[in-house]
Amino acid sequence: MKNFVMKVASVVLVGAMGLAFAGCSKGEAKSSESSGSEKFTVEEGKLVMATNAFFPPYEYYEGDKIVGIDAEIAAAVADKLGLTLEIQDVEFDSIITGVQANKYDLGCAGMTVTEDRLQNVNFSTPYAKGIQVIIVKEGSPITDVASLTSGNYSVGVQQGTTGDIYISEEVEKVERFNKGADAVLALTNGQVDAVVIDNEPAKAFVAANAGLKILETPYADEDYAMCFNKENTVLMNKVNDALKALTDDGTIAKIVEKYIPSK
Ligand code: ARG
Repeated sequence: MKNFVMKVASVVLVGAMGLAFAGCSKGEAKSSESSGSEKFTVEEGKLVMATNAFFPPYEYYEGDKIVGIDAEIAAAVADKLGLTLEIQDVEFDSIITGVQANKYDLGCAGMTVTEDRLQNVNFSTPYAKGIQVIIVKEGSPITDVASLTSGNYSVGVQQGTTGDIYISEEVEKVERFNKGADAVLALTNGQVDAVVIDNEPAKAFVAANAGLKILETPYADEDYAMCFNKENTVLMNKVNDALKALTDDGTIAKIVEKYIPSK
């Protein structure tokens, strides 16, 4: 691991020099071509991705395989970089700390870019949009954001998600679960009055549980991106180049369409 850190430090330096010479402005850094055979991942030849695989259609289990938009985009990125993708399913709120500790090369988990997270990790170019929505039981007196936050209601969330962070600033009673699906189960059981979660998983959970609905008033708009160790800009730049190529050739749109058909 020490060895890795030193190598990363030197490639980062080379990358930084490259940037200085190229005079790239913030956000449009070009990857350093000189680090081709250099080790720039935690384990040579592998791209280790951390996720929390209970978040359909971005990541979820099909049998014992993790599939979904993030899994497929990451696989396409790994392919472009000549690396083998390895997906590790961990608690959502341990992804960033694991990336910081170089346990994983990147976090890819329908993760929202936030100012606070940017203190701890770097984010790739966003590859998707998310919306925080409110799920309630059919016939609930909660009809919009204001009625949720002004009443004395309890809200279920997945621990450490933006849904958790935002709603915790507005309501007193927040029940935190390891999985979004468990928060939805608590709503079905009457243990909480509402759930705040990302719109696409919300649709999947509502489709799988009778008697629930998503309120039409969205709670927050977000960008999803992959997160990286702040030291490893070499890998992030390579991934950004790959994401751009995969956007330009339509691969990403095709993956999204497969999981979220437009009709
Ligand atoms: N977009 C939200 C966030 O970044 C929730 C992401 C949860 N992802 C997951 N794979 N469970 O906080």
